[in-house]
Amino acid sequence: MAKRLYEELGLVNTTEMFKKAVKGGYAIPAYNFNNMEQLQAIIMACAESSSPVIIQVSSGARKYANQTMLKYMAQGAVQMARKDFKSNIPICLHLDHGDTFELCKSCIDSGFSSVMIDGSHHPYAKNVELTKQVVEYAHKHGVTVEGELGVLAGIEDEVSAEKSTYTKPEEVQDFVSKTGVDSLAISIGTSHGAFKFKVKPGEQPPPLRFDVLEEIEKKLPGFPIVLHGASSIPQDYVAMINKFGGKMEGAVGVSEEQLRKAAKSAVCKINIDSDGRLVVTAVIRKVFAEKPGEFDPRKYLGPAREELKKLLIHKNEHVLGSAGKG
Ligand code: G3H
Ligand code: 13P
Ligand code: ZN
Repeated sequence: MAKRLYEELGLVNTTEMFKKAVKGGYAIPAYNFNNMEQLQAIIMACAESSSPVIIQVSSGARKYANQTMLKYMAQGAVQMARKDFKSNIPICLHLDHGDTFELCKSCIDSGFSSVMIDGSHHPYAKNVELTKQVVEYAHKHGVTVEGELGVLAGIEDEVSAEKSTYTKPEEVQDFVSKTGVDSLAISIGTSHGAFKFKVKPGEQPPPLRFDVLEEIEKKLPGFPIVLHGASSIPQDYVAMINKFGGKMEGAVGVSEEQLRKAAKSAVCKINIDSDGRLVVTAVIRKVFAEKPGEFDPRKYLGPAREELKKLLIHKNEHVLGSAGKG
């Protein structure tokens, strides 16, 4: 059979990765990238810790970096892993939060190996219809699809709104069978960004709704579940940003302990973007504060890349459990 476009780029879809992750009780890291240094850090970290990886692109990243550029960056990333790091880790290029059929189609046609169609803001029937349309096209091209049920809460949401946005376990079987999705993103209390919970100093953020996750697992045994909004917002980096002129008081994320628990469950893909942004910003602020005369981008992007790599290795080894599974 002729090679798929993404196979020619050296990429894989999520089928095998998820099968192994569900069986092995760990989660595949899904790290967002927008530029070369972030992608290098991701590939270096995953090659060094021998972890399978999903490199993901949001529509904002696609606008920022250009879709053609991203495609060849992904191909370059595969080649770097194989040739320079002698690593055979599986690498998937995924569209994060696709919101239209046309966007998903465009990514599939340009060589992405996986797409998310996020119809979670639509009424249920419309979400089913849109997701099904994407699945039909994607599967013809061997591309896997992530759907979403339940809306991730934003920090500004009222408590009542947050409650009604958790995934309803009674809908998941129907959604998966009607749409044919390969994985399902759920909402159990995480949210996007660096300010996930409103907590007073010294207070603990509310725990994730593992009871909802358990209900979903019961309805869909062995089915790959995805957790968005899973940055931990390490407080050392928040402090570093604040120390060197930034302003991120009150930034808080999901504890590593809860992510470890999620990774051992049916959750087999964990999405992390904000932590990467945080590290890079912290290091760059430090360099600028300590060396005000520095104007060579390599002198601040280089240390930022190195620190990001260290953080991602830590996640693979000590949080997601994906290290050594590549
Ligand atoms: O889920 C959202 C990701 O963090 C992407 O964020 O749309 O600003 O690139 P972005
Ligand atoms: P964070 O903002 O917690 O990193 O979540 C990223 C995400 O879910 C991307 O889809
Ligand atoms: Zn997300």
